[in-house]
Amino acid sequence: MLAFNPQQFRQQFPFFQQQPDWIYLDNAATTHKPQPVLDAISHFYQAANSNVHRGAHRLSQQATVLFEQARADIAQCINARQPTEVIFCSGSTAALNQIAFGLMHGYLKAGDRILLSALEHHANIVPWQLHCQRHGVIIDVIPLTKEHHLDQQAYQQLLTLKPKLVSLTQVSNVLGHITPLPQMLQQAKAVGALTVVDGAQGIVHLGADVQQLDCDFYVFSGHKCYGPTGIGILYGKQAALEQLTPLLGGGEMIAEVSFSHTSFNQLPFRLEAGTPPIAGAIGLASALKFIQSYNKNNIILHKQDLLNEFYQGLKKIPGLDILSSPVHNAGIVSLNVQAEHPSDVASLLDQQYVAVRGGKHCAMPFFDQLALPGAVRFSFAPYNTSADVASSLQALKQAVEILTA
Ligand code: ALA
Repeated sequence: MLAFNPQQFRQQFPFFQQQPDWIYLDNAATTHKPQPVLDAISHFYQAANSNVHRGAHRLSQQATVLFEQARADIAQCINARQPTEVIFCSGSTAALNQIAFGLMHGYLKAGDRILLSALEHHANIVPWQLHCQRHGVIIDVIPLTKEHHLDQQAYQQLLTLKPKLVSLTQVSNVLGHITPLPQMLQQAKAVGALTVVDGAQGIVHLGADVQQLDCDFYVFSGHKCYGPTGIGILYGKQAALEQLTPLLGGGEMIAEVSFSHTSFNQLPFRLEAGTPPIAGAIGLASALKFIQSYNKNNIILHKQDLLNEFYQGLKKIPGLDILSSPVHNAGIVSLNVQAEHPSDVASLLDQQYVAVRGGKHCAMPFFDQLALPGAVRFSFAPYNTSADVASSLQALKQAVEILTA
């Protein structure tokens, strides 16, 4: 395992050599890609490009080996029991849609309740809504404390309603707050609920050990953990995956097709209709192996240092409303500048080459609750440096001065 050195780590990302002016603090939206990931994708297209599973020729067999090796590597990186528990899809959104659709057509019945939290991304709200009303399933929501953490007392109360499913984010994409998953999942299981974890933000910061979490499903997107866009993982325990009715039908996912009857393929193929994202899978496996080659605790400490420096600097800028708490935070700070619109603040930062996201961050229920038009979000990655923190604080100070003059 490599000792973590922020400068050495940053050098692995060609973007920063090509675009040295940018202070990139929009990592919760997507991360940059390191050279090994770019090389893995490029190698596939240059040396082995072919479709998988169905070609008679050796190129197809080679592509199949690379693709299935990627599945095995990813299974190992998230500590799945077996590669067949790893389903390739286009991202967390697709995975959550497959889970919601799949459970509504079998496992969940009219009158059942499911439990989400007030910190969920739209991707962990809307797929449930699409089906719940039609199927008579009730959605309950865990509220927040005034520090915007999940209200654990209210959670206990909601669990007494015996939800059939609890679906929670591992890390809030707006605030960076880390969900106390071990205890919450255990409590959900104690009332017999299936458990879903949205790891879109959590995978890159905390990683995933799905056997330790012992959740039924865990989903994440490749592009937020140094992999390519268009690839994501739906992990499920074998028995949980077996519960899912396929959302997509087509080639690959079938055993026999006739106009009177279709039977399905075995897992994982049953949930992977059509040509899968082959290069994406290879790139994602490379990204996860890249992360695992570094000491995770050193990375977390480095991000914590960046966060502390950022919070120290924010104290010196008047007129800020900081929504994120510095404790149990994975490296995201959302804030507002008095009553200024977050888009105006983000635009002024952009003019100074500081990339952040402004708006509601696909979490409208959260902002509606606070009666806010959104927030400006600074999200850090291990390739960020103290110099990035200093420059972004300077740029924010200047934006505040312009907007409040
Ligand atoms: N879900 C991504 C974000 O939070 C796009 O920015």
